[in-house]
Amino acid sequence: MIVEGIVTTERQDGSMHASPIGPWVDPSTDSWSFRPFQSSQTFANMHRSGRCVFHLVDDPLILVEALRSMADVRPHRYQSDFGHILDDCCSWLAFSLDSWDLSQPRAVAQGRKLYHQQQRPFRGWNRAAHGILEGAVLFSRLSLLGAQEVQRQFSPWIPIIRKTGGEGELQALDLLLGMLPSTHRDDQSEATRQFAGDEGKE
Ligand SMILES: Cc1cc2nc3c(=O)[nH]c(=O)nc-3n(C[C@H](O)[C@H](O)[C@H](O)COP(=O)(O)O)c2cc1C
Repeated sequence: MIVEGIVTTERQDGSMHASPIGPWVDPSTDSWSFRPFQSSQTFANMHRSGRCVFHLVDDPLILVEALRSMADVRPHRYQSDFGHILDDCCSWLAFSLDSWDLSQPRAVAQGRKLYHQQQRPFRGWNRAAHGILEGAVLFSRLSLLGAQEVQRQFSPWIPIIRKTGGEGELQALDLLLGMLPSTHRDDQSEATRQFAGDEGKE
């Protein structure tokens, strides 16, 4: 299965870089493979340092901030054995990246787990958070899919997010919609208005 979370890596100057990532995990063997695009900062950092810290999170705002390269200033601590650890996560896992397959644009690194630390309880299922997760995946493909297609696929999530989300989910929604080119934002408002009529139904 693919587990979505946030990976922190070290830039060349040692500072933290945080990005959403979805490693493949085989729960039966506890084997983890990370698949960063070779064009990404995350790949450059992982490949150079040979390590990363993966965070299981339940706050969709931090996920969207990471997608927009805004999470590098989130509170974190540095542990020399592992790297940068975000304060706000349910748990974190430190990996050594021992073997790489660089034959495809999307590299594959096998992660060897060094450490696993629980930090706080998972706050519970929330439909808005899942909508934001789906939106974040779509918006990460904005340049491939185009604004119209992203908007089309994301629109059904908007009333669900507005209806079931808290402040963080609504902020995350604004951050996602802010990624649309300005020419599409008015259309998006229209989509939002259309779906707003359905808010009472579930
Ligand atoms: C939930 C989620 C999972 C993602 N998983 C991956 C992944 O496994 N590999 C990848 O290269 N990009 C993935 N992305 C996209 C990257 O997060 C995005 O391209 C980001 O900008 C990385 O670029 P950077 O390292 O240059 O900041 C994912 C995005 C989201 C929202």
